[in-house]
Amino acid sequence: MEQKEQKDILILAIESSCDETAAAVVKNGRDVLSNVISSQIDLHTLYGGVVPEIASRKHMEAIDGVITKALEQANVTLADIDAIGVTYGPGLVGALLVGLAEAKALAFATNKPLIGVHHIEGHICANYIEHKDFAPPYMTLVVSGGHSHLVYVSDYGKYEIIGRTRDDAAGEAYDKVARAIGMGYPGGPKIDAAAKKGNPNAVKFPRVFLEEDSYDFSFSGLKSAVLNYVNKQKMMEQPIVPEDIAASFQQSVVDVLVTKTIKAAKEKGVSQVALAGGVASNSCLRERMQKACETEGFRLSIPSPVLCTDNAAMIGCAAYYEYLAGVRDGWDLNANPSLKLGER
Ligand code: KG4
Ligand code: ZN
Repeated sequence: MEQKEQKDILILAIESSCDETAAAVVKNGRDVLSNVISSQIDLHTLYGGVVPEIASRKHMEAIDGVITKALEQANVTLADIDAIGVTYGPGLVGALLVGLAEAKALAFATNKPLIGVHHIEGHICANYIEHKDFAPPYMTLVVSGGHSHLVYVSDYGKYEIIGRTRDDAAGEAYDKVARAIGMGYPGGPKIDAAAKKGNPNAVKFPRVFLEEDSYDFSFSGLKSAVLNYVNKQKMMEQPIVPEDIAASFQQSVVDVLVTKTIKAAKEKGVSQVALAGGVASNSCLRERMQKACETEGFRLSIPSPVLCTDNAAMIGCAAYYEYLAGVRDGWDLNANPSLKLGER
């Protein structure tokens, strides 16, 4: 019997939850035809962090051009697109609304399905783009500027959060510590680079593991320990070596992240581990997690750095699996700044 040919599914995806305006065209979930990112980082650097009002305004200025470019680079037109995927939470409400309004307008005008995507689900799905054969079940560590989660992914779209931060997110701790030692915003990449020239054992910072059976994280105590150390050194007119502080702080964060991830993977009995989110582009975390997974016999998936930080290709991938599951959103879909993973 002749086999029926499957039609390719093309998703136009839009992401505007924080300080990147991004659009992408993704074929069948894993094939990225274009991935356009317009970053506002230089602008926010002037203020030492993301200014929500400025972010919304800049998204409005950039979004049309970014979408046009994504379609052009993919060599398609809106008519070729099967569905429009968009981040609708969590994130900055004013920033989310720009992408969402644009997605709704395009979907309405072209009569295409609209699919709202959870930002963290997008980060996790970046692993499917990176490794075409990567599939659930697996344990994933999601570490970004706003989130630090340990998530057990039993199937596409099925998430069980088994640990989360009780205070600061890992990326937030990087950004705050960087500011304290005069490295500016965004702190993650700067600490990553400085730590390579520093001694990770120079300063003994705490490792916060919380209760024996907990997979939660807490980074605010570590952040305070770094600030106290810097102040003490200044008061005693002792030298401050930013590279040593960066390396020691990073060692402490990575020790906890790797230990908890491996323990959680063992407990759930999975054979695969994945990293996701902006902090997953950290060179020390990538290296240490790779070593730990090799020792324990887990397959590790880590997206390339450009797929770890905010982008729309990951949103297109997540939207594809939602599309297959039959998810279609209405025109009443609203931005939800504190949307929970797995919730609609
Ligand atoms: O995922 P993301 O782009 O945005 C959010 O959803 O939050 O993550 C941004 C965070 C920032 O806190 C940034 O400092 C951190 O990821 N980050 C890094 C590195 N690159 C970005 N942290 C550590 N090392 C890096 N190389
Ligand atoms: Zn993100």
